[in-house]
Amino acid sequence: MSHCAVYPGSFDPITNGHLSIINRGLQIFGKVIVAVAHNPQKKSLFTVEERLDLIRRSLPGENNVEVDTFEGLLVEYCKNRGVSVVLRGLRALSDFEYEFQMALMNRRLERDIQSIFLMTDYKWFYISSTIVKEAASLGGDISGLVPDLVNQKMKEKFGLIPPSAL
Ligand code: PNS
Repeated sequence: MSHCAVYPGSFDPITNGHLSIINRGLQIFGKVIVAVAHNPQKKSLFTVEERLDLIRRSLPGENNVEVDTFEGLLVEYCKNRGVSVVLRGLRALSDFEYEFQMALMNRRLERDIQSIFLMTDYKWFYISSTIVKEAASLGGDISGLVPDLVNQKMKEKFGLIPPSAL
């Protein structure tokens, strides 16, 4: 299914940088599967279910995006889904080494799966889930860098506003 790409990541939480890659990915692929990695070893702010929910609610009315989760090897997930393209975003040079390593390992594990990279938009060049979380945890204003709902949910997680039913 070459018209479909898997866009994997931790998405803890989804940022506007991720949304930009999804939307630009949709200009190339007919369908993008956003695949949230479930890694019990990695400490996360949001549970996998919360992350899936935030992604889904950040992409209202987007029929060509599927939001899913996977555990274990990414290439196994891709094979099981019948998808041979992995989509990733590239920001600064510092991303390159990690992405290069991961793409080569994935290729060694499964030759038929290709990794495709999109340069992030300059607006999101400095944005990562990690830096956004750090700023938010210290009360910094991160509006405009993440969807509004994510901004609110992060403030709730950090006890800056009371939990809502949303
Ligand atoms: O958003 P991230 O944290 O940079 O995403 C990294 C992710 C989830 C894409 C990567 O860690 C991954 O693919 N994990 C699944 C396990 C795997 O297949 N690792 C790569 C080969 S060992």
